[in-house]
Amino acid sequence: MNTSRRTVMAAGLATGLVATSLGTAHAASGGTPTRTLFGTLDDGTPVHLWTVANGGIRLEVLSYGGIVHRLDVPDRHGHRANIALGFDNLADYVAKSPYFGALIGRYGNRIAAGRFTLDGHTYQLPLNDSANSLHGGTKGFDKHMWQVEPFTRRSGSGLVLSRISPDGEMGYPGTLKVQVTYTLTARGEWRIDYAATTDRATVINLTSHTYFNLAGEGSGPVHDHTLELAAARYTPVDAGLIPTGELARVSGTPFDFRRTKPIGRDIRQGHRQLVYAKGFDHNWVLDKGSTLDPAYALTLAEPHSGRVMRMYTTEPGMQFYSGNFLDGTLVGTSGRTYRQGDALCLEAQHFPDSPNHPAFPSTVLRPGETYRTSTVHAFSTR
Ligand code: GLA
Repeated sequence: MNTSRRTVMAAGLATGLVATSLGTAHAASGGTPTRTLFGTLDDGTPVHLWTVANGGIRLEVLSYGGIVHRLDVPDRHGHRANIALGFDNLADYVAKSPYFGALIGRYGNRIAAGRFTLDGHTYQLPLNDSANSLHGGTKGFDKHMWQVEPFTRRSGSGLVLSRISPDGEMGYPGTLKVQVTYTLTARGEWRIDYAATTDRATVINLTSHTYFNLAGEGSGPVHDHTLELAAARYTPVDAGLIPTGELARVSGTPFDFRRTKPIGRDIRQGHRQLVYAKGFDHNWVLDKGSTLDPAYALTLAEPHSGRVMRMYTTEPGMQFYSGNFLDGTLVGTSGRTYRQGDALCLEAQHFPDSPNHPAFPSTVLRPGETYRTSTVHAFSTR
């Protein structure tokens, strides 16, 4: 896609002009989100399940971890299926979830040795991924309760999730006030807007860790999904999945998704990067860079159901993880096991380990600034 068309699409999203085929067919399903009890934590805290419906899409979110428990999307015949991996009970989300559907903070992906230096101070984070810190540490945003407020506005129906992360939580400096808004629009889009402020200089990289299978959760591998990813470069990693710092060209490698191709086509190539990660688990450097409004990043499509998901984001990077660590030991929402490659994650974010790579786009947030990022998942069929 050329630059001028991308710009038009980004502008269209910002002003609400982009139409998808779902919007017209199911425009009537809006309304105020509803709440039921999903379960109770060991300390007696009730966890609620919020349901939002609009534009033919239905989203179910837990007040624990901001977890997307279900995402029901129609296929080309109008049949809805849950395209997000999850569990049917709270205890499994608490005890064994590999971040299914969760909000990730304070820092998406890895920080090498769980250590970074900011303004001359060195901060040590808990290590929870061999020698590194992953997804905010041992008790990240995915394992906290969120305050949830429903809304219905012209822009759509949704939920505002908020929490205050105290100074020093998981080793990170600054009291961080965080607000994440999930909106379903009448046009069949699921939009996420993140906002945060701090009272001390800190680093931040928020994202959503939904595991997608456009054929439906529990239906088998996603290797015949096709992906187009507008990125000429990616960030290669070492054996611990920490970026080396290089922005390598995708050209001539399995990492080239500039022309749409099935996810499984090159996943078994003996490329060292695929061996390190057991598949794809890398950050793509989006051609569009950081943008003020969400701009085009990728198209994911599933040939049998006809479901299509396009993603637009303000973020400069996209972590594409091909579900490599799913090993058949987790029983999902509909009672089926999840095996390697049964889903993929597309985490719009800044690059992993940015605090230790001054040449990467900055993840520093200072007092007086407001962190704002947005990602749109636009659903349609073909
Ligand atoms: C991210 C990481 C992966 C893995 C998953 C969760 O995608 O990059 O390495 O940790 O989260 O299992």
